Parts: sequence; structure tokens; C-alpha cells
Amino acid sequence: MMIRYTAGALLFLALSILTVVYGRHDFIKLPSDARRFFGSAATASNAGADDDSVGTRWAVLLAGSSGYWNYRHQADVCHAYQILKRGGLKDENIIVFMYDDIAYNEENPRPGVIINNPHGEDVYHGVPKDYVGYDVTAHNFFAVLLGNKTALAGGSGKVVDSGPNDHIFIYYTDHGGPGVLGMPTSPYIYANDLINVLKKKHASGTYKSLVFYLEACESGSIFEGLLPEGLNIYATTASNAEESSWGTYCPGEYPSPPPEYETCLGDLYSVAWMEDRFLLAFSDPANDNYTFVDDNSLRPSSKAVNQRDADLLHFWHKFRKAPEGSARKFKAQQQLTEAMAHGRTLITALN
Ligand SMILES: *[C@@H]1O[C@H](CO)[C@@H](O)[C@H](O)[C@H]1NC(C)=O
Ligand SMILES: *[C@@H]1O[C@H](CO)[C@@H](O)[C@H](O)[C@H]1NC(C)=O
Repeated sequence: MMIRYTAGALLFLALSILTVVYGRHDFIKLPSDARRFFGSAATASNAGADDDSVGTRWAVLLAGSSGYWNYRHQADVCHAYQILKRGGLKDENIIVFMYDDIAYNEENPRPGVIINNPHGEDVYHGVPKDYVGYDVTAHNFFAVLLGNKTALAGGSGKVVDSGPNDHIFIYYTDHGGPGVLGMPTSPYIYANDLINVLKKKHASGTYKSLVFYLEACESGSIFEGLLPEGLNIYATTASNAEESSWGTYCPGEYPSPPPEYETCLGDLYSVAWMEDRFLLAFSDPANDNYTFVDDNSLRPSSKAVNQRDADLLHFWHKFRKAPEGSARKFKAQQQLTEAMAHGRTLITALN
């Protein structure tokens, strides 16, 4: 009886997942301000690294989740690191926050390797482990942004020790909600606290321009009506204050991850910039003469999965593929049942 109920629930779940794996054909366009920022930073970097007036490029990369079903967030961050590094940023200027439980996770079909694209290479190698595990905290994130070493608790001690001519790129990827961004530890990042930190950073006169690239559900709510004018901050978000953001390269969609992966490999808004030459113009002096084509259309792949349902999708594929009667199947079923018991599931899945 119990088993039949579960099977019925799974079927219902499967049907609802089918409804979320639908096509999204709109194009994400990068506002010209962001292009200008990256463009001018790239030009600046060419003028000569030893000239103080040119400024240093800094990056803070943060994956706000843990757990294999959230593979994609840490994959996004690792990929971002590789792009920036290739583009000439030094490790001392790239600060990485990630829980670091993916590469050697027992679910990972390629131990020690993380990919962010079905055909992608390993993006995990060389990623600095500045703030990992329980050191991935909102407190440390703020201390790093403010360049306040004494406020740090754990981690490598790297902070954004920037000067007035420097350019800062902050990239965050994870789940979010109205006014809040997830973290693998508590407390989460609240919009008001983050805005206060950004105001403080501006008041300290330690950057020339700052780009905040934010991927999370309802990410618009972090800045809308809260970020004051005149801080020289350009914030771009994956969604407005009320929308979901989207996972991509998910099992069962096209393009799909290699068959041994039961989890999404990336997030749509994130891979959009990383797979486009947009950022390369920022990061790679060799691309200095690259001209941005207007509406150069960061084309998202044709299908996407609501961020909130990507974990369900992972459990579902795990369940479906696990051998009949195996412990793995049993565990996946438990995970599914538990996720569904938390109410959010079928209703959000059907959205
Ligand atoms: C740095 O953090 C410490 C500890 O939280 C605090 O007392 C200090 O005022 C901060 N320094 C600056 C410059 O904000
Ligand atoms: C400028 O663009 C041309 C054509 O794409 C390329 O061959 C050349 O190497 C580029 N120059 C620089 C300095 O990047």
C-alpha cells in the first residue's frame, strides 16, 4: 500500500518535472553599462600593470550552496575562476568561496573533476580554497569585501585589499528568495546587510567600479529600490524580484549532461556570460580589439530547469537509474519523499 502510494507520487512528480523542463527562448541581453565596465577594464589592464593609476582587477566568487544536487553552483564558480585566471588575474586577486563538497563527492562520476558544460573540461583544478566548508559564511564574505582581515574567522585570509583605481567583480550563484541569498551556513545573506556593506566599501574609497553579477531566484529583490545611485556599482541579476532563475544542462533536457551525471551542470544566467566572449573582453588583454556586437545575445540553451526543482530532478534521475532493490534506489526514494514532504515541491514544480 505504502509502496504503491510512493510510486504514484513519483509518477506525479515525474509528470510535474516534465512540465518544468520547458523551453525558454527569450534572449538575455547584457546592458551596455556592464559592457562598458568590462571593456574599459580590459583597456585599462593593457596600459601597463605597474602603473598604479590603472588599477588592479579583483574578483570575489561565491557559491552559496552545498550538496551534490547543487553541483551546478560550485561548477559555475570554478568555471568563473578559470576564465578570470586565463584572463590574467592573479590568484592573490581572486577570492573563492565554495563549500568544496562536490569534486570528491561519492555521487561524482568523475572524482576530482568538476565540469560546467556537457563537453566542458575540468574546471576544478587550481581553484584556490580560500573559504571552504564552514568558513563559507556571510560574515567572512562581508569581511572580504571590506578588506577587513581582523574580522575574518577562518579561511585563507585573502581579502579585497583594493585601492581607489581598482575594479571589483563579484559573482554569486545559488538559491535565493525575496531579499535573501542562500549560504551553506547560517545566517544567510540579507539584502539590507549586503547593501550596507557595499555602501561602506564605497565610502572607504577603495574602488573605481564594481560589477555585481548575481544568479539566484528573485535576485532582483536584492538591489531593486535598495541600491543607491552614485556608488559606481553595476548590478546585474538573473531574475527580477519575483522570478525564478534557471539551472541548465540538466538530466533529461537538451543539451543534457553526460549520461553518468544525475545533476544539472550549470545555471543559465551564469553559463550565459561564461560561454560568451563578454567576459573575455574584460579578462583577456589579447581580446582588446574585440568589439561588442550590439545585442550580442547571450543565448541561453533552449531548455532550463527552475532552480528550486533542480534538486528534485537530481533525486528523480538517481532513483530512476539505480538498480532495482539497491540501497542507492532506496536512498534516492527517501530523498525524494523527504523533499516532497516539505510541501514546496509539486506546487513549485508545476509553476
Ligand atoms: C574590522 O572588523 C573588526 C571586527 O569586527 C572591527 O572591530 C573593525 O572596526 C573593522 N575595521 C574596519 C576598518 O571596519
Ligand atoms: C585583433 O583582431 C584580429 C581579428 O580577429 C586578430 O587577428 C588579432 O590578433 C587581434 N589583435 C589583438 C591584439 O588581439
